[in-house]
Amino acid sequence: MPKPKLLLLHGPNLNMLGMREPSIYGSATMAQIDQCCQQLASELGYNLSCRQSNHEGQLVDWLQAAAGEFVGIVINPGAYSHSSIALLDAIRAITIPVVEVHLSNIHAREAFRSHSVTAAGVVGLISGFGADSYLLGVRAVAQLLADPLSSSS
Ligand code: DQA
Repeated sequence: MPKPKLLLLHGPNLNMLGMREPSIYGSATMAQIDQCCQQLASELGYNLSCRQSNHEGQLVDWLQAAAGEFVGIVINPGAYSHSSIALLDAIRAITIPVVEVHLSNIHAREAFRSHSVTAAGVVGLISGFGADSYLLGVRAVAQLLADPLSSSS
């Protein structure tokens, strides 16, 4: 039987991880993070597809198309977290669980980063654990799928 599929979405500038402000975002590249997440997802019984876009509309398209193919989503919307009602609406328009992750602690940085617009549509948000935020996000969505009662609050 094929494994159920999870989708990992990276928003703008996350393709630059590894060389982008390493004192904030760490030295792991996006490819390394994807590989670790795919390994973990596989151990948890899922197949993980990873995608990145710098374009809001592309991320909206992927969210809209996800239902039917994927059972859960982990997303780092990057800077769109702080501004994108379009992404919030897309997250709200689908019924599969979405977990938001951030490498940095968005509450401990500039004031404009402390509010996540997209967070209003997700099941939960993990922020501040560096690349491990993604792994925690994969674990969180797998846990939700395994135990639907945990998402009912
Ligand atoms: C980020 C935090 C955002 O404020 C920023 O614009 C990013 C990365 C993070 O993962 O910490 O691009 O989402």
